[in-house]
Amino acid sequence: MKRIVVFSGAGMSAESGLKTFRDSGGLWEEYDIHEVATPEAWEINPELVLDFYNQRREQVLQSKPNAAHHAIVALEKKFDVVVVTQNIDNLHELAGSTNVIHLHGEILKARSVKNSDKLYNVNGPLSIHDRADDGSPLRPHVVWFGEDVPMYELGKTIIQSADILIIVGTSLNVFPAAGLVLHAKEESRKILIDPNEISIGSFPNLIKVQEKAGSALPRVVNDLLSNNH
Ligand code: OAD
Repeated sequence: MKRIVVFSGAGMSAESGLKTFRDSGGLWEEYDIHEVATPEAWEINPELVLDFYNQRREQVLQSKPNAAHHAIVALEKKFDVVVVTQNIDNLHELAGSTNVIHLHGEILKARSVKNSDKLYNVNGPLSIHDRADDGSPLRPHVVWFGEDVPMYELGKTIIQSADILIIVGTSLNVFPAAGLVLHAKEESRKILIDPNEISIGSFPNLIKVQEKAGSALPRVVNDLLSNNH
């Protein structure tokens, strides 16, 4: 069975109503990264950090997978599919994708600030008074700027194993995550879906589909399911 790896970013969930980061009207226009998404921000003003991620969680809880998420699930009929996502929402899983790796964490989880293995499901706002069972404060289970990406090596191995790589809805601006796609085998087929022009340098066997995920992915998936790849 051929392996398809889907590498997704915020644009994947845009048609579910979740804001991207760097488009006009995106989250990093409204918020300062240094005030809400760094370890230093957590030291200086944890309430502001929690408030930012509480809003993200609330919006995720109100959103549903879109046609693009559903199309990826359909690929599992014929391919071994792994989704490597930068997104912290759970929309790939809600649609039914069975193998999803979250590079930047998951907003519906929190963890102890002292012990990253102590994970808890969270379905409402986190407060600075919430505690893990080791007694330490809980923080959102997300990767902040300046922190390591614990899933990086796993993501790299998966991308290296792809026969077909679909890159969708990411500006490829945030490293190290964005650099992962460059580990794809030279001979693998690559399909990049994004309504904007994304620069990726020299990348063999690449087809660009300059369109929104919700319209492009169902078509790309139909093509992959109906032809002999
Ligand atoms: P960006 O906001 O940087 O990029 C979103 C991409 O989605 C852009 O290239 C848009 O053109 C595209 N887009 C918008 N609408 C779309 C649609 N309907 N269909 C397909 N594509 C669409 O988001 P990411 O690349 O995911 O990290 O950002 C990477 C990381 O930066 C995030 O994981 C987050 C952020 O800061 C952390 O917080 C650590």
